[in-house]
Amino acid sequence: MNALHQHLDLFGCKTPLGLSTEGIKYVGSKLKLLSHILSLADEIDAESVFDPFSGTTRVSQAFARSGYTVISSDYSVWSETFARCYLLGRDPEKYKSLIQHLNSVPPVNGWFTEHYGGCPDTSSSIKRPWQIKNTRKLDGIRLEIDHLGLNEIEKSVALTSLIQALDRIDSTIGHFASYLKEWSSRSHNDLHLKVPDILHQDAGIAHQVHRGDVFDVAKCVSADLAYLDPPYGSNNEKMPPSRVRYASYYHLWTTVILNDQPDVFGAANRRVDSRDQVAASVFEEFRKNDEGHFVAVEAIEKLLEQIQTKWIILSYSSGGRATAKDLRSAISNVGTVLDIREIDYQKNVMAGMRWTDEWVSAIEKDNVEYLFLVEK
Ligand SMILES: C[S@@+](CC[C@H](N)C(=O)[O-])C[C@H]1O[C@@H](n2cnc3c(N)ncnc32)[C@H](O)[C@@H]1O
Repeated sequence: MNALHQHLDLFGCKTPLGLSTEGIKYVGSKLKLLSHILSLADEIDAESVFDPFSGTTRVSQAFARSGYTVISSDYSVWSETFARCYLLGRDPEKYKSLIQHLNSVPPVNGWFTEHYGGCPDTSSSIKRPWQIKNTRKLDGIRLEIDHLGLNEIEKSVALTSLIQALDRIDSTIGHFASYLKEWSSRSHNDLHLKVPDILHQDAGIAHQVHRGDVFDVAKCVSADLAYLDPPYGSNNEKMPPSRVRYASYYHLWTTVILNDQPDVFGAANRRVDSRDQVAASVFEEFRKNDEGHFVAVEAIEKLLEQIQTKWIILSYSSGGRATAKDLRSAISNVGTVLDIREIDYQKNVMAGMRWTDEWVSAIEKDNVEYLFLVEK
């Protein structure tokens, strides 16, 4: 048992107080579910957690702050960068002068300004994610980060700080597949970097950070518990493009990290390697295979089978490709459900559910998140 046994609230849920996490705006971020995920994990005896769809890394950060050893992984390079910063950075004090220095770098006109900077006072019809005064700062700071000869963790801290600062002043609805017609009010603010809220940790705790496809990474990881939060392809048959595609939604974070000035296309100036044909995840697939089964549902089944941890917490959002029947059979094939939580965002209600038909009918609702605690 670990530090989780402190700070339980009246409902037996770990409160997020004192468990601050940082993250960009991200479709599917589990910020609002952190207390539920932690309280489910508290029902079992796990000490290490594998988070292979780590995204913003908020869940990884929350587990690490609660005393678990965390193995964070995702196939996106931004998530790897955040995880190195928050889990491996150790001491925020060490980075104060670096961040101060980056804030003092003179703005310049460069590649980011050319492709993503817009003027607030012209009536140009071209929509851009940031005002030019801020892309000029971005151009200067991004060049400087490469010139400083930083080690891997220092560079991850600098890039995480830069991305968080850019996220605070963007003119988007939370992703970079399209930009707003009118400048958002936050986009008028100046780009300003802050030291990330890195964990103060004792050197004995050995968190790990990986990047890669979950099926590859899972082969070389050992942990007690896995928190599985894959993308869920939309079940809206008429609007397959409405599904979330992470590589295309967050292409700009890839480019800020790689600084590789890629070829871009379309009105949003997306990097060419973020096209669906190249970058889509099997979990985002909306089609059926030759045998008539949904590819995304098969991927969830395979995932549950291949994960080698004793316990799994599986996240599921209503509106996803899998039906309740699919999920029930996938879970039953690999283990026993110990607990289910239903979190209705709109009603702000959390309910415990039994492993009965009760949840099968509930799961067809909209805007509801489910957490399944499974023992394999
Ligand atoms: C629902 S989001 C996870 C959100 C995360 N739990 C959070 O709170 O920020 C799904 C994540 O899965 C990642 N992903 C999608 N397919 C993947 C795959 N095949 N292997 C590894 N990661 C994948 C995406 O990059 C995305 O960050």
